[in-house]
Order: sequence, then structure tokens, then C-alpha cells
Amino acid sequence: MNTKLPLILAIDTSCDETSAAVVEGQRVLSNVIASQAQLHQKYGGVFPTVAKQAHQENLAPTVVEALARAGKRWQDIRAIAVTQGPGLAPALEVGLRYAEQLGKQYAKSVIPINHIEGHVLSVLAQAHSRVGQARFITPEFPALAVVVSGGHTEFVLVKKIGEYQRLGWTVDDAAGECLDKVGRLLGLGYPAGPVVEKLARHGDTQAFPFPLPMTVTKTFDMSFSGIKTHSKKLIDQLEKSGTLNKHTIADFCACLQAGVFEHIIYKLTKLLEKTTVKELWLGGGVAANLILRKKLRSVARAHQLTFRVPYTKTLCGDNAAMIGLAGGYFLGRNPDFKLTSLDRKPQWSLATL
Ligand code: KG4
Ligand code: ZN
Repeated sequence: MNTKLPLILAIDTSCDETSAAVVEGQRVLSNVIASQAQLHQKYGGVFPTVAKQAHQENLAPTVVEALARAGKRWQDIRAIAVTQGPGLAPALEVGLRYAEQLGKQYAKSVIPINHIEGHVLSVLAQAHSRVGQARFITPEFPALAVVVSGGHTEFVLVKKIGEYQRLGWTVDDAAGECLDKVGRLLGLGYPAGPVVEKLARHGDTQAFPFPLPMTVTKTFDMSFSGIKTHSKKLIDQLEKSGTLNKHTIADFCACLQAGVFEHIIYKLTKLLEKTTVKELWLGGGVAANLILRKKLRSVARAHQLTFRVPYTKTLCGDNAAMIGLAGGYFLGRNPDFKLTSLDRKPQWSLATL
């Protein structure tokens, strides 16, 4: 892949962000995100019909904005990359049907992309301002990607771009989901992950002991439901004793965050003892968390691995630029690709790619 690759217009409507982007190879020319977080606040999570309606309203103007910010017109675009799954079925449907319509209207091929592959490859994205320097990331393989978001928590072996193997994943809640659900019990709003990070800065990580889950299982799978149950018990106790206040909430957030990340690091360390890789990548919404980045960076250093995270937090959460990046690589591998079906795949696992 080189910097002269064709321009991709990308769309992601997998969950609660309506996003469109223009990407050229690894370079992000625009990445527009219309967030629905405010709309879902009152439900404490993503409400599917609300998400669908907001995508329907926001998608067309978001695409227009992405083209305008990139300074491109439809005739410059080579193909449309769109998230086919995994994600919320009604939300995915909006993006897929609009991509299909645009493909017909402007005679562009449509490339269906796996959302997790987008999170994995987000670490390779380059800022538009670097155009002049023609910077290009050439990763060394195999790499291990850690995807930590509100919907997914998994370890993905990247044998090369386009060839993946899932080595471990959460058997229940995702890490971000756990932070959001516990945060909701504390009245921190939605999504609670960033608020937990902020409050945790003033908290004591030793105040409340959290159990380390799944230490006896030999797999690299994770589980966050025990942390959630333990949290609920602790919060109930604090409420009953009248000690749930600003200070204990900060301590609690510090301990919750440490508990969630310790679990990921524990399994990751075990996995790295058994798997030889050259790089460690971190993507997904929770990758915006500075403590998690710091912890993974030190794991990478201890194993002498190159560590990569997206260059901006906008590329951590759901966004279309990462889908465009995956689309560009896909087109590079399959220049004569002919689309046969554009059905949504809400449960699409990266392992089947
Ligand atoms: O990748 P993403 O936007 O959506 C999914 O694909 O799920 O991730 C959203 C998740 C939410 O759970 C949110 O609370 C979490 O990422 N998150 C964070 C931070 N920023 C977003 N969690 C912890 N610390 C953060 N700074
Ligand atoms: Zn995501």
C-alpha cells in the first residue's frame, strides 16, 4: 500500500455514532462523527430505535460534510466502504442501505467491512497534516491487537492485514460495557467510561479490593460480569452505610478501572508468554483511556514490542476513518472485487475473515 491509493468514502453506523470519512491509504482526509450520546443518556445505554432514527436523519449530511472537509467531490472517490457488522442490526441497516444507494447513484463499488477490523487497523491511520511528509507506517507481523470497546473486548492475532485469528475474548460483557453499567449505578451518565477515568484520577486504587477474574482458566478469554456484580454489592454497602459520597465515588472509580484493566493485562501477559509477536496494538473506545495506554505500553516495553495506538482519540471510539482504512487495504488485495450481498451481519466475528 502506498500513499497514492484511491480515495475511499467510508460510513460507519454500527452503534450510536453516525460517521463518514474520506481516507486515502493510511491518511485520514476527514472523519466526521455525529454523536448520539446525548439522545441515549436518559436510557443509560443505546436504544436501538432511537439510534436508527438518528442515523437516518444524520447520515446524508455527515457524508456531505466528510467530502467537504476533505475538499473532494464524488468524481474523486473510487469506492465506498461501509460497516457490515458486528453491531446493532437496525443501525447497521441504515448505513448499508445508504451506501448501496450512493453506490448506484455515483457508480461506485461498495466494500463491506468488519467493524472490529476497523478498530484493529485504526492504529495505522495517519493525520492529514502529515501529507507533505509522506509518512507511512509499515508494521511488522505478526502483531497482537487488543480491542477494548463498549461492545467488544478481544485479543486478535494479526498475521498480516486481512488475516486474523481471535485468540481470546470476553465471554460476557465488554470492558467498556462494564464501566458504563457500573458508572450508571453511580449516576455518572452515559457513556460512563470517560467519567470513570476522570474521577479515578483523584481516587485511591487500594480503597476497595477487586477480585481478579478467571485466573484458573487456561484460556485467554475474559469475563467482566463478576466485576460488575462485585461493584453492585460494594455500592449497595456504601449506600446503606451512608458513605457514598464524592470521595468514596472517586476511590471506587479508581478501583473499578484498575480491576477492569488488571484483568485485561493479566490475560494479555499470559498470552504473550505463549505467542510470539512483534507489535502490540490497542484500539477501541476504551483505548482513549490514558491509564490503559500506559499499562499496555509498559507490557509492550517488557516484551520488546512496538506499541501502537491511534494518533487521536477520535479514532479510538466508533468512526468511519478506520472503516475507510480497512476498505483501502481490502481494495488493494481485491482490486476486482464484485459485491454479491450487502446483508447486515450483527454478529460477524473477525475470526471468520
Ligand atoms: O468503540 P466504541 O466507541 O464503541 C463500541 O464499538 O463499543 O467504545 C465505546 C466505549 C464506551 O463503553 C465508553 O464508556 C468507553 O468506550 N470509553 C472509555 C473512555 N472513552 C470511551 N472508557 C474508559 N476511559 C475512557 N477515556
Ligand atoms: Zn466499535
